[in-house]
Amino acid sequence: MPTAAPPAIAAELRRLLAHSHAPYSGVHVAAGVEAEDGSIHYGVNVENAAYPQGVCAEASAISAAVTHGYRAIRRVWLASSLPGLIWPCGGCRQKIWELSEPGCEVVSVGPDGRVETHAIEALLPLGFRLEPPR
Ligand code: THU
Repeated sequence: MPTAAPPAIAAELRRLLAHSHAPYSGVHVAAGVEAEDGSIHYGVNVENAAYPQGVCAEASAISAAVTHGYRAIRRVWLASSLPGLIWPCGGCRQKIWELSEPGCEVVSVGPDGRVETHAIEALLPLGFRLEPPR
């Protein structure tokens, strides 16, 4: 379990917060999906005037990872413009769970660099799956 975010990842998440399109909530979020080979695929939240059409940063990052051929997420890095740590919404927990390796870590990185980590199974017990359990 990471005790600190690698400086390059923390810096990239912070840099990308400026790219988040969040004129309605004012909450800017960046996510990095770490794939099985260590590559990291980033995304930001993209809101829309038709509010439900907005996309979370995790969903953007998962789309980027899948687009590049990855579907076994081993870690998700998260940062936001809020003062504390944030955790994925329910829908994003389900999205991460479906495409992650067992024990996939969700790491929230605070503005001060502090991190906290939880396994996806702890964030989403009994997630929905059509196939038999792993
Ligand atoms: N949001 C994310 O992108 N990820 C999260 O984990 C929680 C919330 C976004 C959705 C919306 O654009 C804004 O944050 C406020 O809810």
